[in-house]
Amino acid sequence: MKAQAISQFVKLYGREPKWIVSAPGRVNIIGEHTDYNDGFVFPMAIERRTVIAAAPAEPSDGLGENEAKIWTSAGEQTGVVSVAPGVAPTADVPWTAYIQGTLTLCAEAGFPAQPFVAVMISDVPLGGGLSSSAALEVSVATLCEAISGKTMDPVKKCLLCQKAEHEFAHMPCGIMDQFISNLGQPDHAMLLDCRSCVPEMVPLTDPAVSILIINSNVKHALTGSEYPERRAACEQAAQILGVKALRDATMDMLNAAKDKLTETQYIRARHVITEDDRTVEAAAACKANDWVKMGELMYQSHASMRDDFQITCSELDTLVDLAAAKGVDGGVYGARMTGGGFGGCAVALVKTDAVEDLMAYFAKEYEAKTGIKPFIFVSRPGNGSAIESCSNG
Ligand code: GLA
Repeated sequence: MKAQAISQFVKLYGREPKWIVSAPGRVNIIGEHTDYNDGFVFPMAIERRTVIAAAPAEPSDGLGENEAKIWTSAGEQTGVVSVAPGVAPTADVPWTAYIQGTLTLCAEAGFPAQPFVAVMISDVPLGGGLSSSAALEVSVATLCEAISGKTMDPVKKCLLCQKAEHEFAHMPCGIMDQFISNLGQPDHAMLLDCRSCVPEMVPLTDPAVSILIINSNVKHALTGSEYPERRAACEQAAQILGVKALRDATMDMLNAAKDKLTETQYIRARHVITEDDRTVEAAAACKANDWVKMGELMYQSHASMRDDFQITCSELDTLVDLAAAKGVDGGVYGARMTGGGFGGCAVALVKTDAVEDLMAYFAKEYEAKTGIKPFIFVSRPGNGSAIESCSNG
């Protein structure tokens, strides 16, 4: 990827890049839609990254004052953005909005980028629920660190990237994706307390188990209101229960207040309250190498997302049913949908010695049932954002 970014940079701009930075996508092992409820999430960075190679702009690049130009491997397009502070968000959200938002907020936070030209190459599947957008924001913020020669406080950097997504992409996301893309560590998943923003790195090193990621290759047409609506229902439920966030509620409290909640508020809150418990339990099971327990919690998480949070779809349900049909004897400990929902990927915890058979099984059976070819890969926990190189040449 790095070599590819350099050669594309040289081809486009006729010189070597000065800065090379990268940030990974992520897979969430468990803990879905809990982050904006001040709860717990348990993601890991994947070994798929967005790499940016960049150099200061030169007059021959034809850019205006304060402009930067980025070529992306996604669609092989070039976008122009501003590195000046104070650039306002637009109503529409082109791919450059994520870059513009991050550059603007970095400039305002004292990490200005000088005008630059860049190449961006990514093997994080786009729109597949693996946080391609966080990989983009975090790689741009890392580029601003490289250019300004200063290191941002890690928590501030994550919050800045989240703010870019809120304000420039109009997506009221939680904090999980930016945290794991920024702070992921090889061989570790991250148990993140989204209230204190303190991550606990949990070793995930047993060579006998693997994380299999199955992209359903479906993205259902959404109105854009599904995520904000769920977030709002959780906030309303918390208010009715008299707690700061659903993280502070228990099932007893929820059941005691059932009459005051709509049916929708009740089931949304039930997902969050039970998912928080499952996430903490799954991290403990991971520490104990108790893969059977962790797998059971993943199936329970999927059922809760399907029935209570209502964010799965038939294709993802099919993948999880196929996983369950194999069972532990067939090499699968557990599986669930991962990410925001309504399409994207399933994540499965599997036996390493069954990986090849399982890849063939999911590919064949999923296509037979849905007519769609999935994209399947294995990933160990990868590292977070990095300045790969920074030359003075
Ligand atoms: C998206 C958001 C995250 C999180 C997940 C659901 O990925 O960006 O903040 O809410 O959905 O767990």
